[in-house]
Amino acid sequence: MNHPVVVDTIRGMREVVAAARAAGKSIALTPTRGALHEGHLAHVSRAGELADIRVVSIFVNPTQFTVAADLERYPRTLEADLEKLAGVDYVFAPSVEEMYPAGPTETKVTAGKVGSLYEGASRPGHFDGVLTVVAKLLSIVTPDVATFGQKDAQQLFLVKRMVADLNLPVRIETIETVREADGLALSSRNRFLSTSERRAARTLSAALDAAASAGSSGIDATIAAAQGALMGEPLVELDYLKIVNPKTFLPVDDDYRGPAIAIVAAQLGSTRLIDNETLYLG
Ligand code: PAF
Repeated sequence: MNHPVVVDTIRGMREVVAAARAAGKSIALTPTRGALHEGHLAHVSRAGELADIRVVSIFVNPTQFTVAADLERYPRTLEADLEKLAGVDYVFAPSVEEMYPAGPTETKVTAGKVGSLYEGASRPGHFDGVLTVVAKLLSIVTPDVATFGQKDAQQLFLVKRMVADLNLPVRIETIETVREADGLALSSRNRFLSTSERRAARTLSAALDAAASAGSSGIDATIAAAQGALMGEPLVELDYLKIVNPKTFLPVDDDYRGPAIAIVAAQLGSTRLIDNETLYLG
Protein backbone atom coordinates (compact mmCIF):
# COMPACT_ATOMS: atom_id res chain seq x y z
CA MET A 1 0.00 0.00 0.00
CA ASN A 2 1.10 3.54 -0.70
CA HIS A 3 2.65 5.74 1.93
CA PRO A 4 0.73 8.92 2.71
CA VAL A 5 1.63 12.17 1.02
CA VAL A 6 3.27 14.40 3.62
CA VAL A 7 2.11 18.01 3.61
CA ASP A 8 4.02 20.39 5.87
CA THR A 9 2.48 23.77 5.08
CA ILE A 10 -0.94 25.19 5.89
CA ARG A 11 -1.24 26.48 2.35
CA GLY A 12 -0.45 23.02 0.94
CA MET A 13 -3.04 21.45 3.22
CA ARG A 14 -5.67 23.95 2.15
CA GLU A 15 -4.91 23.12 -1.51
CA VAL A 16 -5.39 19.40 -0.81
CA VAL A 17 -8.69 20.14 0.92
CA ALA A 18 -9.88 22.40 -1.92
CA ALA A 19 -9.10 19.68 -4.49
CA ALA A 20 -10.89 17.06 -2.39
CA ARG A 21 -13.94 19.27 -2.02
CA ALA A 22 -13.97 20.05 -5.76
CA ALA A 23 -14.02 16.29 -6.38
CA GLY A 24 -16.96 15.92 -3.97
CA LYS A 25 -14.94 13.92 -1.42
CA SER A 26 -15.51 13.88 2.34
CA ILE A 27 -12.57 14.22 4.75
CA ALA A 28 -11.74 12.60 8.10
CA LEU A 29 -9.04 14.02 10.37
CA THR A 30 -7.19 12.10 13.06
CA PRO A 31 -5.14 14.57 15.12
CA THR A 32 -2.04 13.00 16.73
CA ARG A 33 1.33 13.89 18.15
CA GLY A 34 2.93 10.96 16.35
CA ALA A 35 4.67 8.04 18.11
CA LEU A 36 1.83 6.02 16.66
CA HIS A 37 0.65 2.72 18.11
CA GLU A 38 -2.25 0.33 17.57
CA GLY A 39 -4.57 2.74 19.38
CA HIS A 40 -3.97 5.40 16.70
CA LEU A 41 -4.38 2.79 13.97
CA ALA A 42 -7.87 2.05 15.29
CA HIS A 43 -8.67 5.74 14.63
CA VAL A 44 -7.27 5.54 11.13
CA SER A 45 -9.19 2.40 10.34
CA ARG A 46 -12.49 3.90 11.59
CA ALA A 47 -11.73 7.11 9.67
CA GLY A 48 -11.58 5.01 6.50
CA GLU A 49 -15.15 3.87 7.12
CA LEU A 50 -16.36 7.42 7.70
CA ALA A 51 -14.89 9.48 4.86
CA ASP A 52 -13.35 9.28 1.39
CA ILE A 53 -10.07 10.93 2.35
CA ARG A 54 -8.09 10.33 5.51
CA VAL A 55 -5.80 12.98 6.93
CA VAL A 56 -3.64 12.24 9.98
CA SER A 57 -1.99 15.26 11.58
CA ILE A 58 1.31 14.69 13.35
CA PHE A 59 2.30 17.70 15.40
CA VAL A 60 3.94 17.79 18.81
CA ASN A 61 2.13 20.90 20.00
CA PRO A 62 4.41 22.86 22.35
CA THR A 63 1.62 24.97 23.84
CA GLN A 64 -0.01 22.00 25.58
CA PHE A 65 3.17 20.96 27.39
CA THR A 66 3.63 22.62 30.74
CA VAL A 67 7.01 21.04 31.56
CA ALA A 68 9.83 21.73 29.09
CA ALA A 69 11.44 18.34 29.79
CA ASP A 70 8.24 16.52 28.77
CA LEU A 71 8.17 18.37 25.45
CA GLU A 72 11.83 17.54 24.88
CA ARG A 73 11.49 13.86 25.64
CA TYR A 74 8.27 13.40 23.66
CA PRO A 75 9.13 10.74 21.05
CA ARG A 76 9.41 12.05 17.49
CA THR A 77 9.27 9.12 15.09
CA LEU A 78 7.97 10.50 11.78
CA GLU A 79 9.59 7.90 9.51
CA ALA A 80 8.28 4.96 11.56
CA ASP A 81 4.87 6.67 11.81
CA LEU A 82 4.63 7.00 8.04
CA GLU A 83 5.37 3.28 7.67
CA LYS A 84 2.42 2.53 9.94
CA LEU A 85 0.12 4.82 7.97
CA ALA A 86 0.35 3.00 4.64
CA GLY A 87 -3.00 3.48 2.90
CA VAL A 88 -3.71 6.83 4.57
CA ASP A 89 -4.03 9.65 2.02
CA TYR A 90 -2.30 12.58 3.71
CA VAL A 91 -0.17 13.30 6.75
CA PHE A 92 -0.21 16.93 7.82
CA ALA A 93 3.09 17.43 9.64
CA PRO A 94 3.74 21.15 10.03
CA SER A 95 6.71 22.63 11.88
CA VAL A 96 6.23 24.64 15.06
CA GLU A 97 7.11 27.79 13.07
CA GLU A 98 4.42 26.96 10.50
CA MET A 99 1.75 26.62 13.21
CA TYR A 100 2.99 29.41 15.47
CA PRO A 101 4.94 31.87 13.28
CA ALA A 102 4.83 34.55 15.99
CA GLY A 103 5.11 32.19 18.97
CA PRO A 104 2.12 30.95 21.00
CA THR A 105 -1.06 32.64 19.79
CA GLU A 106 -2.43 35.59 21.75
CA THR A 107 -5.94 34.33 20.94
CA LYS A 108 -6.68 31.11 22.79
CA VAL A 109 -9.58 28.77 23.32
CA THR A 110 -10.05 28.45 27.07
CA ALA A 111 -11.19 25.14 28.46
CA GLY A 112 -13.11 26.62 31.42
CA LYS A 113 -13.59 25.03 34.83
CA VAL A 114 -13.35 21.40 33.70
CA GLY A 115 -10.08 22.31 31.98
CA SER A 116 -8.57 23.20 35.34
CA LEU A 117 -9.49 19.88 37.02
CA TYR A 118 -7.80 16.43 37.01
CA GLU A 119 -5.26 16.56 34.15
CA GLY A 120 -5.59 20.34 34.08
CA ALA A 121 -4.82 20.61 37.81
CA SER A 122 -1.42 19.01 37.43
CA ARG A 123 -0.77 20.79 34.11
CA PRO A 124 -2.33 24.28 34.26
CA GLY A 125 -3.02 25.63 30.77
CA HIS A 126 -2.65 22.20 29.15
CA PHE A 127 -6.21 22.04 27.85
CA ASP A 128 -6.19 25.63 26.58
CA GLY A 129 -3.19 24.54 24.49
CA VAL A 130 -4.99 21.39 23.32
CA LEU A 131 -8.22 23.18 22.38
CA THR A 132 -6.40 25.99 20.63
CA VAL A 133 -4.35 23.64 18.45
CA VAL A 134 -7.38 21.43 17.76
CA ALA A 135 -9.34 24.54 16.69
CA LYS A 136 -6.44 25.48 14.37
CA LEU A 137 -6.25 21.96 12.91
CA LEU A 138 -10.03 21.87 12.34
CA SER A 139 -9.84 25.26 10.68
CA ILE A 140 -6.98 24.18 8.38
CA VAL A 141 -8.27 20.72 7.39
CA THR A 142 -12.03 21.48 7.67
CA PRO A 143 -12.85 17.77 8.10
CA ASP A 144 -16.40 16.41 8.03
CA VAL A 145 -15.44 14.15 10.91
CA ALA A 146 -12.53 14.08 13.38
CA THR A 147 -11.59 11.12 15.58
CA PHE A 148 -10.68 11.46 19.27
CA GLY A 149 -9.89 8.66 21.73
CA GLN A 150 -11.94 7.68 24.78
CA LYS A 151 -8.56 7.04 26.46
CA ASP A 152 -8.17 10.83 26.93
CA ALA A 153 -11.71 11.16 28.28
CA GLN A 154 -11.28 14.69 29.63
CA GLN A 155 -9.79 15.89 26.35
CA LEU A 156 -12.62 14.21 24.43
CA PHE A 157 -15.23 15.89 26.64
CA LEU A 158 -13.61 19.31 26.20
CA VAL A 159 -13.20 18.94 22.42
CA LYS A 160 -16.85 17.93 22.05
CA ARG A 161 -17.91 20.88 24.18
CA MET A 162 -15.76 23.29 22.15
CA VAL A 163 -17.31 22.00 18.93
CA ALA A 164 -20.81 22.48 20.39
CA ASP A 165 -20.08 25.85 22.02
CA LEU A 166 -18.43 27.33 18.92
CA ASN A 167 -20.79 25.63 16.42
CA LEU A 168 -17.85 24.13 14.58
CA PRO A 169 -19.03 22.24 11.49
CA VAL A 170 -17.43 18.90 12.30
CA ARG A 171 -18.61 15.62 13.83
CA ILE A 172 -16.47 14.15 16.58
CA GLU A 173 -16.18 10.38 16.43
CA THR A 174 -15.17 8.64 19.66
CA ILE A 175 -12.69 5.78 19.30
CA GLU A 176 -12.66 3.17 22.06
CA THR A 177 -9.44 2.58 24.01
CA VAL A 178 -7.22 -0.18 22.68
CA ARG A 179 -5.66 -2.29 25.47
CA GLU A 180 -2.84 -4.76 25.96
CA ALA A 181 -3.88 -8.31 26.89
CA ASP A 182 -3.57 -7.50 30.62
CA GLY A 183 -5.78 -4.41 30.30
CA LEU A 184 -3.14 -1.65 30.13
CA ALA A 185 -4.41 1.11 27.83
CA LEU A 186 -2.08 1.73 24.89
CA SER A 187 -0.20 5.02 25.20
CA SER A 188 2.92 6.53 23.68
CA ARG A 189 4.15 6.87 27.26
CA ASN A 190 4.14 3.12 27.97
CA ARG A 191 7.54 2.87 26.28
CA PHE A 192 9.06 4.77 29.22
CA LEU A 193 8.00 2.14 31.80
CA SER A 194 10.65 -0.15 33.28
CA THR A 195 9.83 -3.87 33.41
CA SER A 196 8.57 -3.66 37.00
CA GLU A 197 6.61 -0.45 36.31
CA ARG A 198 5.05 -2.08 33.25
CA ARG A 199 3.95 -5.00 35.43
CA ALA A 200 2.53 -2.61 38.03
CA ALA A 201 0.76 -0.49 35.38
CA ARG A 202 -1.95 -3.09 34.85
CA THR A 203 -3.27 -2.13 38.31
CA LEU A 204 -4.86 0.97 36.78
CA SER A 205 -7.28 -0.91 34.54
CA ALA A 206 -7.77 -3.53 37.27
CA ALA A 207 -8.84 -0.73 39.65
CA LEU A 208 -11.28 0.62 37.06
CA ASP A 209 -12.72 -2.86 36.51
CA ALA A 210 -13.14 -3.21 40.28
CA ALA A 211 -14.94 0.16 40.36
CA ALA A 212 -17.26 -0.87 37.52
CA SER A 213 -18.11 -4.16 39.29
CA ALA A 214 -18.95 -2.32 42.51
CA GLY A 215 -21.04 0.37 40.74
CA SER A 216 -24.40 -1.07 41.79
CA SER A 217 -23.39 -0.71 45.48
CA GLY A 218 -23.07 3.10 45.26
CA ILE A 219 -20.33 5.67 45.03
CA ASP A 220 -18.48 4.94 48.30
CA ALA A 221 -18.21 1.22 47.54
CA THR A 222 -17.12 2.02 43.98
CA ILE A 223 -14.27 4.27 45.10
CA ALA A 224 -13.27 1.86 47.88
CA ALA A 225 -13.10 -1.03 45.40
CA ALA A 226 -10.80 0.91 43.06
CA GLN A 227 -8.63 2.19 45.91
CA GLY A 228 -8.32 -1.34 47.26
CA ALA A 229 -6.92 -2.55 43.94
CA LEU A 230 -4.45 0.37 43.74
CA MET A 231 -3.23 0.15 47.35
CA GLY A 232 -1.67 -3.25 46.81
CA GLU A 233 0.81 -1.86 44.25
CA PRO A 234 3.60 0.27 45.78
CA LEU A 235 5.01 1.38 42.39
CA VAL A 236 1.74 3.15 41.55
CA GLU A 237 1.60 6.64 43.07
CA LEU A 238 -2.04 7.70 42.75
CA ASP A 239 -2.67 11.27 41.57
CA TYR A 240 -6.47 11.15 41.37
CA LEU A 241 -9.31 8.70 41.21
CA LYS A 242 -12.70 10.31 40.55
CA ILE A 243 -16.15 9.30 39.45
CA VAL A 244 -17.52 11.94 37.09
CA ASN A 245 -20.82 12.66 35.42
CA PRO A 246 -20.39 12.14 31.64
CA LYS A 247 -22.65 15.15 30.95
CA THR A 248 -20.59 17.65 32.97
CA PHE A 249 -17.30 15.86 33.68
CA LEU A 250 -17.66 17.06 37.28
CA PRO A 251 -17.53 14.64 40.24
CA VAL A 252 -20.91 13.01 40.84
CA ASP A 253 -22.87 13.82 44.01
CA ASP A 254 -23.07 11.18 46.75
CA ASP A 255 -26.68 10.30 45.85
CA TYR A 256 -26.07 10.19 42.06
CA ARG A 257 -27.52 7.21 40.20
CA GLY A 258 -26.86 6.57 36.51
CA PRO A 259 -24.03 6.39 34.00
CA ALA A 260 -20.66 7.68 35.18
CA ILE A 261 -17.00 7.56 34.22
CA ALA A 262 -14.28 6.46 36.63
CA ILE A 263 -11.08 8.36 35.81
CA VAL A 264 -7.66 7.65 37.22
CA ALA A 265 -4.16 9.10 36.92
CA ALA A 266 -1.01 7.77 38.55
CA GLN A 267 2.71 8.24 38.48
CA LEU A 268 4.89 5.19 37.86
CA GLY A 269 8.47 6.31 38.31
CA SER A 270 8.87 9.23 35.90
CA THR A 271 5.89 8.23 33.77
CA ARG A 272 2.35 9.52 34.29
CA LEU A 273 -0.47 7.28 33.09
CA ILE A 274 -4.19 7.96 32.80
CA ASP A 275 -7.13 5.67 32.13
CA ASN A 276 -10.91 5.61 32.50
CA GLU A 277 -13.90 3.30 32.34
CA THR A 278 -17.60 3.88 31.93
CA LEU A 279 -19.74 2.40 34.68
CA TYR A 280 -23.24 2.53 36.10
CA LEU A 281 -23.88 3.76 39.63
CA GLY A 282 -26.95 2.08 41.11
O1 PAF B 1 -4.29 13.69 21.98
C1 PAF B 1 -3.28 14.21 21.49
O2 PAF B 1 -2.34 13.56 21.06
C2 PAF B 1 -3.19 15.73 21.43
O3 PAF B 1 -3.65 16.31 22.59
C3 PAF B 1 -3.84 16.34 20.19
C4 PAF B 1 -5.35 16.15 20.19
C5 PAF B 1 -3.25 15.74 18.92
C6 PAF B 1 -3.58 17.86 20.16
O4 PAF B 1 -2.22 18.14 20.12
